[in-house]
Amino acid sequence: MHPSEPVLRGSGDKPTSPSLLANPLDFISEDHLRERQVCAGIDGLTMADTLDRQAATSVLRFLNEELTVHLRDEAEDLFPLLARRCTEEDAIEGAIDRIRAEQDEAMRLLPQVRAMLASCLDTGAGLSAEDRAVLSRFAGHVRRHLVAENAILLPIARARLTRADLRTLSKHMRSRRGLSDFAETTDAE
Ligand SMILES: [Fe+2]
Repeated sequence: MHPSEPVLRGSGDKPTSPSLLANPLDFISEDHLRERQVCAGIDGLTMADTLDRQAATSVLRFLNEELTVHLRDEAEDLFPLLARRCTEEDAIEGAIDRIRAEQDEAMRLLPQVRAMLASCLDTGAGLSAEDRAVLSRFAGHVRRHLVAENAILLPIARARLTRADLRTLSKHMRSRRGLSDFAETTDAE
């Protein structure tokens, strides 16, 4: 592939392709597209009269298999790398604090969201008004998280992280997904 060739973007309908892990910031950006699609799916669930089982199943699968790993990529690797590389004029700490607060709120609601979707799928019951309100709040936190990260953190990360940082990030993200590290690349620092 030509180095300047843009990476093909998915629609966010499926889990982000592991082939993007070689470019971890692209992977995270693609994960945000995926989160946006899932939030639209959650909006659909909150507005529908009857439960769309297929939509509820794909939201639940995303919550169980993808979201927590994404949040760990950021909390355990991306944010510490950014904190290390950014200068005072980047004024990034406040942004990271706000993004963490949105993540914390989403994580606080996550067990409840999972349980209510699993229960509706098990019993065939519909979502209560209270369930719908919790789902909406959850989607709001996830959306604010990804919008702030796309607007503030990812552009700064692209400017500030070194190639060694990106390799470390890629390695940790692969390991978190049970994938072996890429073979050592030949590119020099
Ligand atoms: Fe994120």
